[in-house]
Amino acid sequence: MVLVAMPRSGETQLAVVSNRGPVSFAFDPEGNLHAKRASGGMVAVLGPGVIEHDALWLSTALSDADRAATGTGEVVVEGYRLRTLTIDPPLFRQYYDVIANQTLWFLLHGMWDLPRRPRFDRYWWEAWRAFVTVNRLFAEAAAAELAPGATVLINDYQLALVGAELRRLRPDVRSSIFIHTPFCHPSELDVLPGEVADTLLTGLGGTGACGFHSHRWAAAFEACCRERRLAVPEVFVSPAAADAAGVAEVAASAGCQAELRLLDEVIGDRRFIVRADRIELSKNLLRGFHAFDDLLASQPEWRGRVIFGAFVYPSRESLADYLGYRQELEAVVRAINAKWATKDWTPILLDLADNYPRSVAALRRYDVLVVNPIRDGLNLVAKEGPLVNERNGVLVLSPGAGAWDELSCYAVEAHPFDVAGTAEALATALSMPSDERATRAQSLKKMASARTPMDWFADQLGRARQPES
Ligand code: G6P
Repeated sequence: MVLVAMPRSGETQLAVVSNRGPVSFAFDPEGNLHAKRASGGMVAVLGPGVIEHDALWLSTALSDADRAATGTGEVVVEGYRLRTLTIDPPLFRQYYDVIANQTLWFLLHGMWDLPRRPRFDRYWWEAWRAFVTVNRLFAEAAAAELAPGATVLINDYQLALVGAELRRLRPDVRSSIFIHTPFCHPSELDVLPGEVADTLLTGLGGTGACGFHSHRWAAAFEACCRERRLAVPEVFVSPAAADAAGVAEVAASAGCQAELRLLDEVIGDRRFIVRADRIELSKNLLRGFHAFDDLLASQPEWRGRVIFGAFVYPSRESLADYLGYRQELEAVVRAINAKWATKDWTPILLDLADNYPRSVAALRRYDVLVVNPIRDGLNLVAKEGPLVNERNGVLVLSPGAGAWDELSCYAVEAHPFDVAGTAEALATALSMPSDERATRAQSLKKMASARTPMDWFADQLGRARQPES
């Protein structure tokens, strides 16, 4: 790992701003710093464009190791020019845990648990002020980096207010913001106090253009603006593309090959259903397992003949909702396995390791890929899977995923709440004739490789404008 300090404040022509950066750092037992690819789809899809355009990536330092590695100014790591913002931990928790994760994420995914939450108490309002402050700090940091007339590409809802603040500080700068989640409907937005909803919408609209993965999310955003009688800003739709070359490289690696051999030993000649997700409430993991249970109950011929591999890894465990969800899913898997397992067959293989080569091995090996989110901005797995799969695997896809817009013609539909229907979809996929599997798999591969992350990056760049004042 090479870290080169290169102070270039005020000279940057192109910057990308996001909460999470592309690389996370950790100390080894000897105290040396190691860099690792950060988790999540957003950094995977932004990475190639950032490197190609030699853009500066401004993000937060999320750990002591991040602060040690990048706290001194601009550094170059694994081809990225990085600069991080160090935010006081209590302030960061209010901005990230309370507002970004517990409020905005639930809002945008339409996942309020209304009888209980949200609750805008004094503690929440303090956190909202912290959110405004952190967004302002980001805008100030970007303003200090950017050359006159430079371009900044803001990414995701955590930084929803950066655009409007930056417009005030640097009206010469061209900007866009890309939202990687869905966007909520006006009735869901109504749950926010009016002044907060307006600050959110005008914050987003303070950029030159707002981008979304799906027309549905863009339309919902525009409807929210109209409903609150705010000007509807410039909007664009550009579904992100999987990094075909990057995922192919992992698929061809010795590590992935070794994982595939291990999987082969476990699966043998059985069919293999796979899912690969972060453990997030929107991914609908529980209903996926219940659907598999329903399949085994209703179609006994599949007992002993199929394994469901869930390659899912924990996220945001500082939040009780996420921790509880993980515990619940482990309990559900235990119960289903206890109900159906025989001495030589365990129906669900639950793997909680964040092991990317292993997940890619599972994607190479699936007969059926399950992507059944309640709502998801895009879902890159739905594209990565078909790109590397070697068995003409069938995609079972929920219309709740943004990727549905592009892939629905070649997928088997699974309504996210219809457990019995999802079980039927699994059965359809498992017993699909081989010629139909091949035709669908080829079409999916073609669709998934029609665009590259560079095309997606170029759309953001092309739509960045000086915002209207
Ligand atoms: C989810 C959302 C993304 C978001 C990401 C942030 O996956 O769909 O839009 O960027 O979470 O994850 P993080 O772990 O950085 O909070």
